[in-house]
Amino acid sequence: LFTDRPKLIISGAPASGKGTQCERLVERYGVVHLSTGDLLRAAVKDGTEVGLKAKEFMDGGMLVPDDLIIDLVKHRLMSPECRERGWLLDGFPRTAAQGEKLREYGIIPDCVVGLEVPDDDIVKRVVGRRLDPETGKIYHLDFSPPPDDADLRARLTQRSDDTEEKCRVRLEAFHTHNKAVREEFASLYHPVDGTGSPSDVFACVCDAIDSVLETPQTRPPPV
Ligand code: AP5
Repeated sequence: LFTDRPKLIISGAPASGKGTQCERLVERYGVVHLSTGDLLRAAVKDGTEVGLKAKEFMDGGMLVPDDLIIDLVKHRLMSPECRERGWLLDGFPRTAAQGEKLREYGIIPDCVVGLEVPDDDIVKRVVGRRLDPETGKIYHLDFSPPPDDADLRARLTQRSDDTEEKCRVRLEAFHTHNKAVREEFASLYHPVDGTGSPSDVFACVCDAIDSVLETPQTRPPPV
């Protein structure tokens, strides 16, 4: 499970900007982006066994049970692509049990970035978020508006869990578990103010990552 390439985790509340930053991080560091939300939504769409079980939890804004997601992540992290390019975990670990499993499997990141955004801002981000299903690009009607292209605007979709009511449930789950997740990787944890513009946040995220990647002793020993 070891690789010399960057091993990164980005965490934060729902809609704190993880996906937005990941688009840029993939470009800059060349790592494989593994979003557990995306993996689960794909499983639901494909009607797999995991997807069928996960759907009701996701629809309600609740976390899916740990055992559904842990093996999915482990399997992906073991892929040749992740060994060759390194990885960027988005939305995992989200509970103490998920963090403990990573350690148990010997999967130690170089850096855990935590995006910090107040709850009221989160709700505004959730209700205005739109997605382009063709490109996977994330927009916000006010903060990151889509280009003035009628075809593109017509195909934008909204996630079924992006309502204020479900957002509050998701925030509650986040606050219940966040402290334990932070503690699991306390020495690797870098809080970043997520309230600036996406570019400003990106600069701070890169500073945090670069400060760690330049320090060779933070890397795990080779196999
Ligand atoms: P998941 O898909 O991971 O959702 P999430 O954590 O709620 O995060 P989001 O994808 O909603 O937001 P984001 O932080 O990526 O923000 P974004 O960049 O889009 O998980 C969905 C569900 O799957 C969970 O509820 C759970 O059921 C299940 N699940 C997933 N992982 C799990 C796990 N490990 N264990 C158990 N269950 C799991 O930005 C949001 C909006 O804000 C966008 O419109 C964007 O344009 C805008 N924006 C971004 N940055 C800025 C900025 N700096 N300023 C202004 N606006 C901004």
